[in-house]
Amino acid sequence: MLNKVVIGNQKMNMTATQTRKFLNAFVPEVEHINCRVGICVPYTSLAICKRALKDTNVMFGAQNVSEFERGAYTGEVSSEMLADIGCKLTLVGHSERRKLFSEHNSQINNKIKQNLRYNITSILCIGESKRERTQGLTQNVICKQLDECLSGLYENELENIIVAYEPVWAIGTGQTATSKQIEEAVSFIREEIARLYTDKASKNIIVLYGGSVKPDNAKNFINIKNLNGFLVGGVSLDAKAFSELIQIYSGKSNKKK
Ligand code: PGA
Repeated sequence: MLNKVVIGNQKMNMTATQTRKFLNAFVPEVEHINCRVGICVPYTSLAICKRALKDTNVMFGAQNVSEFERGAYTGEVSSEMLADIGCKLTLVGHSERRKLFSEHNSQINNKIKQNLRYNITSILCIGESKRERTQGLTQNVICKQLDECLSGLYENELENIIVAYEPVWAIGTGQTATSKQIEEAVSFIREEIARLYTDKASKNIIVLYGGSVKPDNAKNFINIKNLNGFLVGGVSLDAKAFSELIQIYSGKSNKKK
């Protein structure tokens, strides 16, 4: 398995028609790249992704999933439905969902468990708010989120979990965490995984950083110890900028441009 991973989170942007156009421009730029690439799109764009990304190296996923298996949950979309359409990834616990839709750790834990039943990788987003960082609570927040969101999971199931460290204050703000802050958080996440599971699990789990990552600042993050890549919001809407970021990170220079 390749160690470098970059995932786009396109949020509530892009109609299916716009997604098709985006993929036409994006996919040729990231083919044969030394990096696992994925995009998390609105539900309405999943069918387009399934068709357009068949036989490519680009994975696609949803941005949310129901914590329930099936039944009278109007408006929800289940892991089984996502798996049936070929979806291999979903975000879970993004800070916008925690803040705007009051999602809490036990629901996120249920979502992960649903995904596991259908072999879908959960990209578990965790991270502190500005106030929590100022109060010195970053590690407490990370510890609680990991503990509660991974509760009841077996070590072998961590193969289907990617952890995305996304300090809330860096998301969509243009204010990135420093390399030192990211490195500290990533090591702490790995320490926690070692405490909850084993050293082997801690070494193997994929950990990403997210929060205002752009082609201009990606270079600053390339050498962060034990970081596997990025979860990218705003920039993932621009095929040129997103592919450039991936090329920079994967070490393939973009000579054509
Ligand atoms: P951003 O978003 O790159 O626009 O800061 C990251 C995210 O929300 O995952």
